[in-house]
Amino acid sequence: MTANVAEDMMTETDATDTPTSPAEQETLAKKMVARDVDVFYGAKQALKKITIDIFENEVLSLIGPSGCGKSTFLRCLNRMNDTIDICRVNGDITLDEQNIYDPALDVVQLRARVGMVFQKPNPFPKSIHDNIAYGPKIHGMTRHKDELDQIVQTSLEKAGLWNEVKDRLAEPGTGLSGGQQQRLCIARAIAVSPEVILMDEPCSALDPIATAIIEELIDELRQNYTIVIVTHNMQQAARVSQKTAFFHLGDMAEHGPTDEIFTNPRDNRTQGYITGRYG
Ligand SMILES: Nc1ncnc2c1ncn2[C@@H]1O[C@H](COP(=O)(O)OP(=O)(O)OP(=O)(O)O)[C@@H](O)[C@H]1O
Ligand SMILES: [Mg+2]
Repeated sequence: MTANVAEDMMTETDATDTPTSPAEQETLAKKMVARDVDVFYGAKQALKKITIDIFENEVLSLIGPSGCGKSTFLRCLNRMNDTIDICRVNGDITLDEQNIYDPALDVVQLRARVGMVFQKPNPFPKSIHDNIAYGPKIHGMTRHKDELDQIVQTSLEKAGLWNEVKDRLAEPGTGLSGGQQQRLCIARAIAVSPEVILMDEPCSALDPIATAIIEELIDELRQNYTIVIVTHNMQQAARVSQKTAFFHLGDMAEHGPTDEIFTNPRDNRTQGYITGRYG
């Protein structure tokens, strides 16, 4: 036993920390695969030979000290790094066995399939309704207003926000509380029917109650989506994810089932981090 996290994991019986059983694992499909991914910002290498399989209907947590490359890796998965001029990505990343760095691939379409939720809730300066309706509209997903309204409702329901906002859909999204805004952003990501949802420290600006709501939501969303979440909170990684990858200075030092990473890490760097020797 190496850390409080490990002890918590042994005592908590919450459904959200149920690891994927070996039998379940055999039936899970590889949704995304990264092979030998190197990332450079100018001459500086930020990630070295990252290789990992990301399975359907699982939550993968990315953990590790600040600056180790977690956000960089997350951004590789939907080509958000394309927006950074000096950033160069080598290696292979596939989604359903299709190379996402294929020059012929439509990046807008890719980002609809691989959605993103950021650290700071960032609603558009639009109404609650229009925050959700925006994506389906620009992707031409609906022809009628009724259909669009239905998507708005379903997305808000899936994000656990509908009951709180159903009577104020015309009010600005920015008028919601921080936790509500983050659920609005999750609903916005869901509205375009993504297959993978990337979350970069989605709870770091939230209080413990709002955090608990989002964590429960992540566990529910796993039934329909593949989720990759960056978190600095190891208890959170232990609670919400089935797999964990530990990054250190641009390397992926170790990855595997979350319970093994926290109770029996093989790499000294992981052990040092989860026991709080550095971070
Ligand atoms: N736009 C950028 N331009 C240049 N260097 C960058 C850029 N973004 C990140 N880096 C560098 O790449 C490395 C990895 O950064 P990254 O943001 O991926 O780390 P992180 O693990 O997400 O850290 P944190 O926990 O602080 O968010 C760092 O050395 C960082 O300074
Ligand atoms: Mg980061």
